Amino acid sequence: MLEPQSVNLGNLLLALSDAVDLAAPSIASHQMRTAYVVWQLGIAAELPPEELTSLFTAALFHDIGALTVEEKMALHAFEVVDPDRHCVLGESVFLQSPLLAPAAPIVRQHHTPWRGSPEVPSGAVESASQMLFLADLVERLIDRGTYILHQSAGITGAIAAQSGEAIDPDVVDLFMSVSNREDFWLDLTSSRLHSLLLRSGPLHSREIELPTMFSIADVFRAIIDFRSRFTATHTAGVSEAAVTLCELLGFTRTETTAMEVAGCFHDLGKLAVPERILEKPGRLTDDEFAIMRQHTYITYTILNSVGGLGRIPEWAAFHHEKLDGSGYPFHAGERRIDIGARILAVADIFTALAEDRPYREGMQKDGIVKILLEQADRNQLDRGVVALGLDNHDVLRERVMNRQAQALEQYKKLYAGYGRRAAVERTGSGSLDTR
Ligand SMILES: [Fe+2]
Ligand SMILES: [Fe+2]
Ligand SMILES: [Fe+2]
Repeated sequence: MLEPQSVNLGNLLLALSDAVDLAAPSIASHQMRTAYVVWQLGIAAELPPEELTSLFTAALFHDIGALTVEEKMALHAFEVVDPDRHCVLGESVFLQSPLLAPAAPIVRQHHTPWRGSPEVPSGAVESASQMLFLADLVERLIDRGTYILHQSAGITGAIAAQSGEAIDPDVVDLFMSVSNREDFWLDLTSSRLHSLLLRSGPLHSREIELPTMFSIADVFRAIIDFRSRFTATHTAGVSEAAVTLCELLGFTRTETTAMEVAGCFHDLGKLAVPERILEKPGRLTDDEFAIMRQHTYITYTILNSVGGLGRIPEWAAFHHEKLDGSGYPFHAGERRIDIGARILAVADIFTALAEDRPYREGMQKDGIVKILLEQADRNQLDRGVVALGLDNHDVLRERVMNRQAQALEQYKKLYAGYGRRAAVERTGSGSLDTR
């Protein structure tokens, strides 16, 4: 197998930031553009490299705590009265990964105005979170339908008006020193911004290995799952099922970790699916299903753009493909679907059938055996992998359930006090779809 090599951290984080903002055209690249602004401010402030890296990383994912497409759009359009929730959740999410943790306090404070906020820690965090506050505001003030140099003076004026009010005057001064350059505004709104940050941004020369990749993937595992109470532990279960099957098949440790990364990312594209579709209790209409079908396409294009991930993009994104070519979105047949992708497809269906959904209870062994064997007989799922899974049904089920119980604890902890409904709470009856 083609094993994953080291991956460029900037490339991975930029791609993931993009994935989060793919949800709607009105917010496309919002976080990446905000990151460009803080990068410029940080250079002007002569921040030491580690502080610049933390600030840039905070900006790339500063709205990660806004879990729904609807909430992201409302934040962007200045419609949210209390932005605190996504700041607190964002901070908890950042704290999950050692790589992201240093940026957590900046994310926590990114909507805290300068004046009248005794809770803001002073020093480096205050100044970094003020830079992010300003950058976020600048990006949201841009009218995407108007040429940038026809509005830059107006935006600069709006920021200047906040000096000594919502924004620290020193940070406003920094902004004035970069915003007088046309190239600042042209880069900020350029369709080539991604390549610019890739080539010259603060993370451009940092490489990471598989274990660090996993720690980032695990953060996304939680973000993807926690968007919907229907599937609050789905990814955790799929990843565990796939890892168990790899171990039974004698995969190497590296291959198994690569599978764990693929499992965490498999539904990455669901970040772009509106909540009303994710949360719909019954069957999806044809139009809704058409939107759902893009999720694995997005998983693939995002991961495939990173480079160095070996087979992870295919393993992650082919989980709705079928060996007879009847799956989606690539209609890949048995020649393109390798053993890893076959494993993940079985792991996905097994977990979806075994787990409780709000509209039905998890299926018992008999029901799962019937469905998996039918799909194997129709040459949709791999016969060998299905047989292995069914021969080891009890072990597989126990490991999946244990992992999901852990993930449920994490979900409850993260949402404590946020009024989100419990993860597993049944309402009415529904279908057995494994979307
Ligand atoms: Fe925000
Ligand atoms: Fe934002
Ligand atoms: Fe999926």
